[in-house]
Amino acid sequence: MNGHNDRKENIILTGFMGSGKTSIGAVLSEKLGLPLYDTDSMIEESEGMSISSIFAEKGEAAFRDMETQLLKKIYDEDAGRAIYSLGGGTPLRDENAELIKKCGTVFYLRAKAGTIYERLKDDDTRPLLRTEDPRSRIEELLTAREPKYRAAADHYIDTDGETFEVIAEKIIGFVKNS
Ligand code: S3P
Repeated sequence: MNGHNDRKENIILTGFMGSGKTSIGAVLSEKLGLPLYDTDSMIEESEGMSISSIFAEKGEAAFRDMETQLLKKIYDEDAGRAIYSLGGGTPLRDENAELIKKCGTVFYLRAKAGTIYERLKDDDTRPLLRTEDPRSRIEELLTAREPKYRAAADHYIDTDGETFEVIAEKIIGFVKNS
């Protein structure tokens, strides 16, 4: 274990949209032979709706409640040997940040606004970035969220200019040495 008696041994990936959580999670899953769970997909499955439809029809606050409920469920029911890729806004609530830490070792995948913009500019699945000026919106949200991501994380990993493979190896190095 890692110093917290009630802490599980999952690997939790957090960070802004487009920081590579799901792609890096897939590499980790393959290398470590552990299942990968993407919390956005879990919510989409249980609601039977896409994230965009949930935002449009039920609103962001309802989606945030779903995230909190899901984290509680993971903490209560999960056996603790898996990789979780979280939605980019999950650690924004203090309650969630605490739950996330109890669920495992948390890695904040950092990326610069320019990198995120390049990765997401042709993607229309992120309702929060459907604005006139997505580049400025990314900068704004990233600045506001940075302290929350840091507060929720055990380790920070810079992803700009790195391959997902190299980042996954760095994470494995941290996990093995802890
Ligand atoms: C969000 C990030 C998305 C998804 C939703 C809200 C956010 O997840 O949960 O669109 O607030 O940053 P990804 O980080 O997987 O894109």
